[in-house]
Amino acid sequence: MKHTIRLHDKFFKKYIPHNKIKKAVKSIANQVYNDLGDKEVPIFVGILNGSFIFAADFIREYPADCEVSFVKLASYEGENSTGQVHELVGLSEDLTGRTVVILEDIIDTGNTLAKIYDIFEHLPIKQLKLASLFFKPDIFKKSLHIDYIGISIPDKFIVGYGLDYNGLGRNLKSIYQIKAKTMKNIVLFGPPGAGKGTQATSLKDYYNLVHISTGDVFRYNIKNNTDLGLLAKSFMDIGDLVPDELTIKMLKEEVKKNLDTAGILFDGFPRTALQAKVLDTFLTKKGEEIKAMVALEVDEDELIKRLLKRGKTSGRPDDQDEEKIRNRFDEYNTKTAILKKFYKAQGKYYGVNGMGSIEEITERLKKVIDKL
Ligand code: IMP
Ligand code: MG
Repeated sequence: MKHTIRLHDKFFKKYIPHNKIKKAVKSIANQVYNDLGDKEVPIFVGILNGSFIFAADFIREYPADCEVSFVKLASYEGENSTGQVHELVGLSEDLTGRTVVILEDIIDTGNTLAKIYDIFEHLPIKQLKLASLFFKPDIFKKSLHIDYIGISIPDKFIVGYGLDYNGLGRNLKSIYQIKAKTMKNIVLFGPPGAGKGTQATSLKDYYNLVHISTGDVFRYNIKNNTDLGLLAKSFMDIGDLVPDELTIKMLKEEVKKNLDTAGILFDGFPRTALQAKVLDTFLTKKGEEIKAMVALEVDEDELIKRLLKRGKTSGRPDDQDEEKIRNRFDEYNTKTAILKKFYKAQGKYYGVNGMGSIEEITERLKKVIDKL
């Protein structure tokens, strides 16, 4: 079963697996049986539509004779305009003197339940009991008694196992919970010497983000001889560039592992328009998105000064030659220009002044990210 699904315009993530639901159903069935015993044959009344699957599983777990029926709550405007009138549709059995157990899929505010209760209480039955598979205690406002509760859940919309979102989702075996776009996924950019690595580290710690750097992902895959790593290595060994699709595949795998986090800080990816597009499509499918491309903007003459200074101590040859440095800037500017355009079109590009002390720059970045 998929972890994230889409129904209409909303995304849902897997929340309660099928076997846990089955256990809860069995447990309710046993509790009801323990209370009622063998002396009488109860009639279980499922409230349509949502409870059809629960009722079907429930009666098969019920270890004694029982009857089953279904009703639907219909509401219409009263003729004397006294407001809404509620009526049960579908009840054909004579319930006189019977023990009735209502089977509800979910109790949320309890409004539906209150109406059902009201109707059953006025019937000449022996006793009325109520079982609900799911229950949202945080939102339930009624003083009504619920005899049996399967699983209590927070006040978040769920689908599956009979429950729907605008008609869809009833056929899902597991329960899925609605998912907001909660991740702070950020693409961080900065020219060589801008202190991107330093900023990435403090942002990652401050926002509890997962730092995904293309370089690290490559090294990890190659070191661990993953299929993708071996494939990438076969290109590198003969001096070829690793094809875009392969890079994308590796990064996707990494993103997939981190979808339950506060967010991902992308470093060195996406680097091409294709990568950006594929990443967008992939995140959209998972109900997430890139929230921003944040680019450090630094004066090139200043950067050259910094890099030349660094080159004296680091010994990195590419930091010692002004022409080589300028080439790296050109390459950076060409690449960012494409991505800047891509994210600008979505209103997601943020240029941040990268001049000044490390702390000053961090503060500027936080100002942008806090608002996302
Ligand atoms: P209540 O009247 O607020 O208790 O809501 C009861 C009815 O609302 C249920 O029988 C469902 O049809 C629907 N409902 C409430 N919460 C959910 C949910 O999380 N998912 C799907 N349907 C729900
Ligand atoms: Mg219902």
